[in-house]
Amino acid sequence: MAATGIPFALLLSPLVLWLVACWWLRRSRGTMRRDCRALLANGRAWRESDDAVRALFVTAHPDDETMFFAPSILKLAQARLWLLCASTGNYYNQGAIRKEELLQSCATLGIPPSNVTVIDHRDLPDHPSVKWDTSLLSTLILKHIETNQINLVVTFDARGVSGHANHKSLYAAVRYLHSEWKLPEGCQVLTLETVSLFRKYLSILDVPINCLHSQDVLFVLTEEEAELAKRAMWCHRSQLLWFRRLYVFFSRYMVINSLHFL
Ligand SMILES: *[C@@H]1O[C@H](CO)[C@@H](O)[C@H](O)[C@H]1NC(C)=O
Repeated sequence: MAATGIPFALLLSPLVLWLVACWWLRRSRGTMRRDCRALLANGRAWRESDDAVRALFVTAHPDDETMFFAPSILKLAQARLWLLCASTGNYYNQGAIRKEELLQSCATLGIPPSNVTVIDHRDLPDHPSVKWDTSLLSTLILKHIETNQINLVVTFDARGVSGHANHKSLYAAVRYLHSEWKLPEGCQVLTLETVSLFRKYLSILDVPINCLHSQDVLFVLTEEEAELAKRAMWCHRSQLLWFRRLYVFFSRYMVINSLHFL
């Protein structure tokens, strides 16, 4: 009896976890559909109305916005949105193509080309081991914040989700602006939480696990929104190697974003 019981339990536990995730998702959807103001209020008082939220997403490479930030971008659809991508993603000399793909994917996510800026700077190369200069980067980001009167900056956290040096540099630059009081008054910063490798590929199974952790903002996509995120990812045609296709189906970042205020 006991001998057959163990494999049976092993088989059953992912199923139970899956059912719990589905149930929780269904139950929580009401909350998630509420406007972003309510969600942002979880963290700090957010008094303005949604359309007064002027959010700037700061990413490192074309495709970061979809692979990591799609849930936040789609959930902040009521806000005014901008995207600043700090490189063209030219590591494999595909910069020009990737820039085009970025504009298409952003349009799918609801950010028009006029609100997307791609920095192409000699000193900010797309490279997994190059740490970008904090002073140069923070100057460029701050200029963008001031020009567009941004009051919410969304970027990577200190671990940069995938640990990419360029991602971590963005955090360092924004952190610097924040701690040196250089950001305009009322401008808040949200950083995308890096989760363990185990949680990273749990897709929506990671939803119940989020309940055990604290975060300031939690965005979970509905099925329709998750489809939209996938469609945005298919715009990055030059990047769709087999492992990225798998990523789209298994990464929790395609459906869940947990974020912290600085
Ligand atoms: C894009 O930027 C303009 C200002 O340049 C702003 O009015 C508009 O709301 C932004 N679009 C979106 C979708 O947020």
